[in-house]
Amino acid sequence: MVCIIGPNGAGKTTLLRTLSGLNRPSAGSILFKGQPVAGMKPYQMARLGLGHCPEGRRVFQHLSIEENLITGYVAGRGKRFDELRDEVFALFPILGERRPQSASRLSGGQQQMLAIGRALMGSPELLLLDEPSLGLAPIIIHQIFEIVLKLAESGVSIILVEQNIDLSFQVADYVYALEHGSLQCSGPATKMAADARIKDIFLPTADGH
Ligand SMILES: Nc1ncnc2c1ncn2[C@@H]1O[C@H](COP(=O)(O)OP(=O)(O)OP(=O)(O)O)[C@@H](O)[C@H]1O
Ligand SMILES: [Mg+2]
Repeated sequence: MVCIIGPNGAGKTTLLRTLSGLNRPSAGSILFKGQPVAGMKPYQMARLGLGHCPEGRRVFQHLSIEENLITGYVAGRGKRFDELRDEVFALFPILGERRPQSASRLSGGQQQMLAIGRALMGSPELLLLDEPSLGLAPIIIHQIFEIVLKLAESGVSIILVEQNIDLSFQVADYVYALEHGSLQCSGPATKMAADARIKDIFLPTADGH
């Protein structure tokens, strides 16, 4: 699990959107499983095994839980729709219990679970998670992160974007810190937790440096 941290406007969402083909890079290259993928369309990235759970969850409010999962399904990746759906319901039992209900009736935490579940419907090898903790109560964040860790243990690679740096250092193996659209520093989570530069990035002094 790799974590990308950085203050508001650092470019974290832009980076994830570029990886999944929603933004086009103006320069540079992107390799996925050794293959150059810069400029590919989002549906092509999904077929290659990239799942994206976007910032702000973005579930389809007027569709049911099950219909939201249908929108995430990617055919041809080895698993049938009903197999994947049942895996999502096993991870998040509340979604199974409420499956005919419209997503608009779910709490913020449940919508975040649904957004992660939708991304899992593509049977991803790499899952991008954009601030899954945003606006949620600590107990719900804890529940969601238990599942994220379980996914990582089951072999899914994860790129997690977080502003909650304590949480990032707890769960990540490796951390990259962005600021102003560029990489400031990176390293193993255990080392980065003690790095003074992290404090500089998140707690700038009054003169802005
Ligand atoms: N590498 C870059 N070069 C130039 N502009 C960038 C770059 N990355 C991001 N931006 C611009 O910076 C702005 C903020 O980026 P973005 O939304 O990705 O930040 P963020 O880190 O996700 O912030 P937040 O924590 O608020 O979600 C956007 O307008 C985006 O277009
Ligand atoms: Mg963002």
